[in-house]
Amino acid sequence: MQGLTELLFRRVYEECFPGAIRLAVTPFLSLTHNLHNLLQSEGQSATLRQYLRDVLPEANEGSIPITPQILGKEPDEFIALANKLYDMGYEEVNWNIGCPMRNITGKHRGSGILPYPDEVRAVLDAVMPNIKPRLSVKMRIGLRQKEEVMALVPVINDYPLASVTIHPRLGRQQYTGVPDIETFCKVLPLIQHPVVYNGDIVTPEDIRHIKNICPTIADVMVGRGILYRPTLPLETAWGDDGVKDGFRTGLRRVKELNEEERLRLTKHFIGRLMSEVKNNAKSDESALRKTKEYWCMVWKGLPISEADARKVLREQELTAVDNLIAVFIQ
Ligand SMILES: Cc1cc2nc3c(=O)[nH]c(=O)nc-3n(C[C@H](O)[C@H](O)[C@H](O)COP(=O)(O)O)c2cc1C
Repeated sequence: MQGLTELLFRRVYEECFPGAIRLAVTPFLSLTHNLHNLLQSEGQSATLRQYLRDVLPEANEGSIPITPQILGKEPDEFIALANKLYDMGYEEVNWNIGCPMRNITGKHRGSGILPYPDEVRAVLDAVMPNIKPRLSVKMRIGLRQKEEVMALVPVINDYPLASVTIHPRLGRQQYTGVPDIETFCKVLPLIQHPVVYNGDIVTPEDIRHIKNICPTIADVMVGRGILYRPTLPLETAWGDDGVKDGFRTGLRRVKELNEEERLRLTKHFIGRLMSEVKNNAKSDESALRKTKEYWCMVWKGLPISEADARKVLREQELTAVDNLIAVFIQ
Protein backbone atom coordinates (compact mmCIF):
# COMPACT_ATOMS: atom_id res chain seq x y z
CA MET A 1 0.00 0.00 0.00
CA GLN A 2 1.41 3.35 -1.13
CA GLY A 3 2.92 5.27 1.76
CA LEU A 4 2.04 2.54 4.25
CA THR A 5 3.54 -0.88 3.61
CA GLU A 6 6.73 0.55 2.21
CA LEU A 7 10.22 -0.69 3.06
CA LEU A 8 10.47 0.97 6.48
CA PHE A 9 7.19 -0.63 7.57
CA ARG A 10 8.14 -4.03 6.19
CA ARG A 11 11.52 -4.00 7.93
CA VAL A 12 10.00 -3.12 11.29
CA TYR A 13 7.28 -5.70 10.76
CA GLU A 14 9.77 -8.46 9.99
CA GLU A 15 11.87 -7.48 12.99
CA CYS A 16 8.83 -7.76 15.30
CA PHE A 17 7.17 -10.76 13.65
CA PRO A 18 9.86 -12.70 11.80
CA GLY A 19 8.49 -14.96 9.08
CA ALA A 20 4.85 -14.11 9.85
CA ILE A 21 4.06 -12.73 6.39
CA ARG A 22 4.89 -15.08 3.54
CA LEU A 23 4.82 -12.45 0.81
CA ALA A 24 4.09 -8.75 0.41
CA VAL A 25 3.16 -7.05 -2.85
CA THR A 26 4.98 -3.72 -2.85
CA PRO A 27 3.42 -0.30 -3.30
CA PHE A 28 3.21 0.19 -7.06
CA LEU A 29 6.00 1.42 -9.30
CA SER A 30 4.31 3.72 -11.76
CA LEU A 31 5.44 3.52 -15.40
CA THR A 32 6.87 6.88 -16.31
CA HIS A 33 7.47 8.28 -19.77
CA ASN A 34 11.25 8.47 -19.30
CA LEU A 35 11.56 4.96 -17.87
CA HIS A 36 13.58 3.67 -20.82
CA ASN A 37 16.24 6.33 -20.37
CA LEU A 38 16.17 5.80 -16.65
CA LEU A 39 16.68 2.04 -16.94
CA GLN A 40 19.48 2.47 -19.47
CA SER A 41 21.37 4.53 -16.92
CA GLU A 42 21.80 1.21 -15.07
CA GLY A 43 22.98 1.18 -11.48
CA GLN A 44 24.81 4.48 -11.85
CA SER A 45 21.90 6.83 -11.69
CA ALA A 46 20.72 8.21 -8.37
CA THR A 47 17.33 8.83 -9.99
CA LEU A 48 17.04 5.14 -10.89
CA ARG A 49 17.98 4.08 -7.37
CA GLN A 50 15.43 6.52 -6.00
CA TYR A 51 12.75 5.14 -8.35
CA LEU A 52 13.54 1.53 -7.36
CA ARG A 53 14.35 2.25 -3.71
CA ASP A 54 11.48 0.21 -2.30
CA VAL A 55 12.48 -2.94 -4.19
CA LEU A 56 16.29 -2.79 -4.09
CA PRO A 57 17.27 -6.33 -3.07
CA GLU A 58 20.02 -5.21 -0.71
CA ALA A 59 17.61 -2.88 1.12
CA ASN A 60 15.05 -5.69 1.39
CA GLU A 61 17.46 -8.23 2.80
CA GLY A 62 16.13 -9.67 6.04
CA SER A 63 12.74 -8.12 5.39
CA ILE A 64 9.43 -9.60 4.18
CA PRO A 65 9.82 -11.35 0.79
CA ILE A 66 8.26 -9.15 -1.89
CA THR A 67 6.67 -9.17 -5.30
CA PRO A 68 7.16 -5.77 -6.95
CA GLN A 69 4.03 -4.20 -8.39
CA ILE A 70 3.69 -2.24 -11.63
CA LEU A 71 1.04 0.38 -12.39
CA GLY A 72 0.47 1.53 -15.94
CA LYS A 73 -0.33 0.21 -19.38
CA GLU A 74 2.45 1.30 -21.70
CA PRO A 75 3.82 -2.03 -23.05
CA ASP A 76 7.39 -0.91 -23.82
CA GLU A 77 7.91 0.58 -20.39
CA PHE A 78 6.13 -2.35 -18.75
CA ILE A 79 8.41 -4.87 -20.47
CA ALA A 80 11.55 -2.88 -19.67
CA LEU A 81 10.64 -2.54 -16.00
CA ALA A 82 9.48 -6.14 -15.57
CA ASN A 83 12.71 -7.43 -17.10
CA LYS A 84 14.79 -5.08 -15.00
CA LEU A 85 13.03 -6.41 -11.89
CA TYR A 86 13.69 -9.97 -13.05
CA ASP A 87 17.37 -9.18 -13.47
CA MET A 88 17.31 -7.81 -9.93
CA GLY A 89 16.14 -11.22 -8.72
CA TYR A 90 12.33 -11.04 -8.84
CA GLU A 91 10.75 -14.04 -10.52
CA GLU A 92 7.27 -12.56 -10.36
CA VAL A 93 5.84 -9.08 -10.84
CA ASN A 94 2.30 -7.96 -10.17
CA TRP A 95 0.15 -5.74 -12.42
CA ASN A 96 -2.07 -3.29 -10.57
CA ILE A 97 -5.42 -2.88 -12.33
CA GLY A 98 -7.26 -2.04 -9.14
CA CYS A 99 -6.01 1.36 -8.02
CA PRO A 100 -9.06 3.65 -7.59
CA MET A 101 -7.37 7.06 -7.42
CA ARG A 102 -9.05 9.46 -9.87
CA ASN A 103 -5.84 10.97 -11.24
CA ILE A 104 -4.85 7.42 -12.19
CA THR A 105 -8.14 5.91 -13.40
CA GLY A 106 -8.73 8.86 -15.74
CA LYS A 107 -5.80 7.67 -17.85
CA HIS A 108 -7.16 4.08 -18.04
CA ARG A 109 -4.59 3.00 -15.49
CA GLY A 110 -5.30 1.04 -12.32
CA SER A 111 -9.01 0.24 -12.13
CA GLY A 112 -9.54 2.79 -14.92
CA ILE A 113 -8.74 0.06 -17.47
CA LEU A 114 -11.36 -2.39 -16.18
CA PRO A 115 -14.24 -1.20 -18.40
CA TYR A 116 -12.02 -1.79 -21.44
CA PRO A 117 -11.27 -5.54 -21.80
CA ASP A 118 -9.74 -4.91 -25.22
CA GLU A 119 -7.17 -2.61 -23.66
CA VAL A 120 -6.38 -5.21 -21.00
CA ARG A 121 -5.95 -7.78 -23.77
CA ALA A 122 -3.72 -5.44 -25.78
CA VAL A 123 -1.43 -4.92 -22.80
CA LEU A 124 -1.23 -8.64 -22.00
CA ASP A 125 -0.72 -9.51 -25.68
CA ALA A 126 2.20 -7.13 -25.92
CA VAL A 127 3.70 -7.84 -22.52
CA MET A 128 3.32 -11.55 -21.79
CA PRO A 129 5.57 -12.94 -24.56
CA ASN A 130 8.29 -10.42 -23.77
CA ILE A 131 8.74 -10.45 -20.03
CA LYS A 132 11.03 -12.77 -18.14
CA PRO A 133 9.21 -12.86 -14.77
CA ARG A 134 5.84 -14.50 -14.14
CA LEU A 135 2.96 -12.04 -14.04
CA SER A 136 0.20 -11.93 -11.44
CA VAL A 137 -2.68 -9.45 -11.46
CA LYS A 138 -4.37 -7.46 -8.72
CA MET A 139 -7.79 -6.14 -9.72
CA ARG A 140 -11.17 -4.90 -8.62
CA ILE A 141 -14.51 -6.15 -9.99
CA GLY A 142 -14.94 -3.05 -12.10
CA LEU A 143 -14.56 0.70 -12.26
CA ARG A 144 -18.21 1.72 -12.39
CA GLN A 145 -20.21 -1.52 -12.43
CA LYS A 146 -19.72 -5.06 -11.30
CA GLU A 147 -20.67 -6.49 -14.70
CA GLU A 148 -17.29 -5.29 -15.99
CA VAL A 149 -15.53 -8.21 -14.32
CA MET A 150 -17.53 -10.74 -16.35
CA ALA A 151 -16.16 -9.34 -19.62
CA LEU A 152 -12.64 -9.47 -18.18
CA VAL A 153 -12.72 -13.15 -17.17
CA PRO A 154 -12.21 -14.59 -20.69
CA VAL A 155 -9.38 -12.13 -21.25
CA ILE A 156 -7.45 -13.02 -18.12
CA ASN A 157 -8.07 -16.72 -18.72
CA ASP A 158 -6.27 -16.44 -22.05
CA TYR A 159 -2.87 -15.76 -20.45
CA PRO A 160 -0.68 -17.86 -18.14
CA LEU A 161 -0.98 -15.63 -15.09
CA ALA A 162 0.59 -16.73 -11.81
CA SER A 163 -2.45 -15.63 -9.80
CA VAL A 164 -5.29 -13.14 -9.77
CA THR A 165 -6.03 -11.17 -6.62
CA ILE A 166 -9.54 -9.75 -6.57
CA HIS A 167 -10.70 -6.92 -4.35
CA PRO A 168 -14.47 -7.06 -4.86
CA ARG A 169 -15.20 -3.36 -4.74
CA LEU A 170 -15.64 -1.00 -7.67
CA GLY A 171 -13.00 1.60 -8.38
CA ARG A 172 -15.56 4.37 -7.96
CA GLN A 173 -16.23 3.16 -4.40
CA GLN A 174 -12.59 3.79 -3.47
CA TYR A 175 -12.47 2.14 -0.03
CA THR A 176 -16.06 2.75 1.03
CA GLY A 177 -18.99 0.36 1.22
CA VAL A 178 -18.56 -3.36 1.72
CA PRO A 179 -16.83 -5.89 -0.53
CA ASP A 180 -19.28 -7.53 -2.94
CA ILE A 181 -18.75 -11.15 -1.88
CA GLU A 182 -21.66 -12.31 -4.01
CA THR A 183 -19.99 -11.13 -7.21
CA PHE A 184 -16.66 -12.53 -6.01
CA CYS A 185 -18.30 -15.95 -5.50
CA LYS A 186 -19.76 -15.82 -9.02
CA VAL A 187 -16.45 -14.98 -10.63
CA LEU A 188 -14.27 -17.34 -8.60
CA PRO A 189 -15.16 -20.61 -10.39
CA LEU A 190 -14.83 -18.95 -13.79
CA ILE A 191 -11.18 -17.99 -13.36
CA GLN A 192 -8.64 -20.58 -14.42
CA HIS A 193 -5.81 -19.23 -12.26
CA PRO A 194 -5.22 -19.34 -8.51
CA VAL A 195 -7.50 -16.65 -7.08
CA VAL A 196 -6.58 -14.64 -4.00
CA TYR A 197 -9.30 -12.81 -2.04
CA ASN A 198 -8.64 -9.27 -0.80
CA GLY A 199 -10.94 -6.90 1.08
CA ASP A 200 -11.81 -6.01 4.69
CA ILE A 201 -9.89 -8.89 6.25
CA VAL A 202 -9.07 -7.77 9.77
CA THR A 203 -9.71 -10.66 12.14
CA PRO A 204 -9.06 -14.42 12.07
CA GLU A 205 -12.85 -14.82 11.83
CA ASP A 206 -12.87 -12.79 8.60
CA ILE A 207 -10.42 -15.27 7.10
CA ARG A 208 -12.42 -18.27 8.28
CA HIS A 209 -15.61 -16.70 6.92
CA ILE A 210 -14.29 -16.11 3.41
CA LYS A 211 -12.67 -19.54 3.34
CA ASN A 212 -16.00 -21.09 4.36
CA ILE A 213 -18.03 -19.43 1.66
CA CYS A 214 -15.33 -19.64 -1.01
CA PRO A 215 -13.33 -22.80 -0.22
CA THR A 216 -11.51 -22.76 -3.55
CA ILE A 217 -9.63 -19.49 -3.02
CA ALA A 218 -5.89 -20.01 -3.10
CA ASP A 219 -5.07 -17.44 -0.42
CA VAL A 220 -6.06 -14.15 1.15
CA MET A 221 -4.29 -10.82 0.85
CA VAL A 222 -4.56 -8.49 3.82
CA GLY A 223 -4.52 -4.74 3.13
CA ARG A 224 -5.36 -2.21 5.83
CA GLY A 225 -5.91 -5.07 8.28
CA ILE A 226 -2.17 -5.46 8.71
CA LEU A 227 -2.13 -1.99 10.29
CA TYR A 228 -5.39 -2.39 12.18
CA ARG A 229 -4.27 -5.72 13.62
CA PRO A 230 -0.58 -6.38 12.97
CA THR A 231 -0.70 -9.70 14.83
CA LEU A 232 -3.27 -11.10 12.39
CA PRO A 233 -0.85 -13.41 10.51
CA LEU A 234 0.31 -14.84 13.84
CA GLU A 235 -3.25 -15.55 14.80
CA THR A 236 -4.03 -17.45 11.65
CA ALA A 237 -1.00 -19.71 11.36
CA TRP A 238 -0.62 -22.30 14.02
CA GLY A 239 0.28 -25.42 12.09
CA ASP A 240 3.81 -26.89 12.07
CA ASP A 241 3.68 -26.88 8.31
CA GLY A 242 2.63 -23.23 8.22
CA VAL A 243 -0.87 -24.20 7.15
CA LYS A 244 -3.94 -23.10 9.06
CA ASP A 245 -7.50 -23.19 7.84
CA GLY A 246 -6.16 -24.36 4.51
CA PHE A 247 -3.85 -21.40 3.96
CA ARG A 248 -0.12 -21.44 3.57
CA THR A 249 1.69 -18.84 5.60
CA GLY A 250 5.33 -18.16 6.15
CA LEU A 251 5.06 -18.38 9.91
CA ARG A 252 7.53 -20.57 11.70
CA ARG A 253 6.30 -19.81 15.20
CA VAL A 254 3.54 -22.07 16.45
CA LYS A 255 1.46 -20.28 18.99
CA GLU A 256 -2.06 -19.28 19.85
CA LEU A 257 -2.27 -15.69 21.02
CA ASN A 258 -4.33 -14.60 23.98
CA GLU A 259 -5.56 -11.01 24.20
CA GLU A 260 -2.85 -9.94 26.62
CA GLU A 261 -0.10 -11.28 24.38
CA ARG A 262 -1.74 -9.76 21.30
CA LEU A 263 -1.76 -6.34 22.96
CA ARG A 264 1.81 -6.62 24.16
CA LEU A 265 3.01 -7.47 20.68
CA THR A 266 0.88 -4.76 19.08
CA LYS A 267 2.20 -2.08 21.42
CA HIS A 268 5.77 -3.16 20.86
CA PHE A 269 5.26 -3.05 17.10
CA ILE A 270 3.66 0.41 17.17
CA GLY A 271 6.50 1.69 19.35
CA ARG A 272 9.14 0.35 16.97
CA LEU A 273 7.30 1.67 13.91
CA MET A 274 6.95 5.16 15.35
CA SER A 275 10.54 5.29 16.44
CA GLU A 276 11.82 4.18 13.02
CA VAL A 277 9.57 6.75 11.34
CA LYS A 278 11.23 9.40 13.48
CA ASN A 279 14.76 8.07 12.92
CA ASN A 280 14.33 8.04 9.16
CA ALA A 281 12.38 11.23 8.56
CA LYS A 282 14.10 14.14 6.84
CA SER A 283 12.49 16.70 9.14
CA ASP A 284 10.28 16.94 12.21
CA GLU A 285 7.51 18.07 9.91
CA SER A 286 7.63 14.93 7.79
CA ALA A 287 8.02 12.73 10.91
CA LEU A 288 4.88 14.36 12.32
CA ARG A 289 2.92 13.79 9.12
CA LYS A 290 4.03 10.18 8.74
CA THR A 291 3.46 9.38 12.42
CA LYS A 292 -0.11 10.65 12.13
CA GLU A 293 -0.69 8.69 8.91
CA TYR A 294 0.25 5.46 10.64
CA TRP A 295 -1.50 6.39 13.87
CA CYS A 296 -4.81 6.88 12.00
CA MET A 297 -4.75 3.13 11.39
CA VAL A 298 -2.68 1.41 14.07
CA TRP A 299 -4.62 2.84 17.02
CA LYS A 300 -7.42 0.43 16.10
CA GLY A 301 -5.33 -2.43 17.47
CA LEU A 302 -5.36 -0.83 20.92
CA PRO A 303 -8.11 -0.78 23.54
CA ILE A 304 -8.70 2.97 23.22
CA SER A 305 -11.63 5.05 22.03
CA GLU A 306 -11.71 6.95 18.76
CA ALA A 307 -12.01 10.18 20.75
CA ASP A 308 -8.74 9.38 22.54
CA ALA A 309 -7.06 8.39 19.30
CA ARG A 310 -8.07 11.72 17.77
CA LYS A 311 -6.23 13.64 20.49
CA VAL A 312 -2.98 12.52 18.84
CA LEU A 313 -4.13 13.88 15.48
CA ARG A 314 -4.95 17.28 16.99
CA GLU A 315 -1.42 17.80 18.34
CA GLN A 316 0.84 19.97 16.19
CA GLU A 317 4.21 19.20 17.78
CA LEU A 318 6.11 15.96 17.25
CA THR A 319 7.10 15.72 20.92
CA ALA A 320 3.51 16.10 22.04
CA VAL A 321 2.39 13.42 19.59
CA ASP A 322 5.19 11.12 20.74
CA ASN A 323 4.33 11.63 24.39
CA LEU A 324 0.66 10.89 23.84
CA ILE A 325 1.36 7.74 21.84
CA ALA A 326 3.83 6.61 24.49
CA VAL A 327 1.00 6.74 27.05
CA PHE A 328 -1.27 4.64 24.83
CA ILE A 329 1.32 1.95 24.22
CA GLN A 330 2.96 1.75 27.64
C1 LIG B 1 -3.41 4.24 1.35
C2 LIG B 1 -3.58 3.01 0.50
C3 LIG B 1 -2.63 2.74 -0.47
C4 LIG B 1 -2.77 1.59 -1.28
N1 LIG B 1 -1.80 1.33 -2.22
C5 LIG B 1 -1.90 0.19 -2.96
C6 LIG B 1 -0.88 -0.17 -3.90
O1 LIG B 1 0.12 0.53 -4.09
N2 LIG B 1 -1.04 -1.32 -4.60
C7 LIG B 1 -2.13 -2.13 -4.40
O2 LIG B 1 -2.24 -3.18 -5.03
N3 LIG B 1 -3.10 -1.81 -3.54
C8 LIG B 1 -3.00 -0.69 -2.81
N4 LIG B 1 -4.00 -0.39 -1.92
C9 LIG B 1 -5.18 -1.25 -1.83
C10 LIG B 1 -4.99 -2.40 -0.85
O3 LIG B 1 -3.93 -3.24 -1.26
C11 LIG B 1 -6.26 -3.25 -0.79
O4 LIG B 1 -6.53 -3.80 -2.05
C12 LIG B 1 -7.47 -2.47 -0.34
O5 LIG B 1 -7.15 -1.62 0.74
C13 LIG B 1 -8.59 -3.43 0.08
O6 LIG B 1 -8.13 -4.35 1.03
P1 LIG B 1 -8.34 -4.11 2.60
O7 LIG B 1 -9.82 -3.94 2.79
O8 LIG B 1 -7.78 -5.37 3.22
O9 LIG B 1 -7.58 -2.88 2.96
C14 LIG B 1 -3.88 0.74 -1.11
C15 LIG B 1 -4.82 1.03 -0.12
C16 LIG B 1 -4.68 2.13 0.69
C17 LIG B 1 -5.73 2.41 1.73
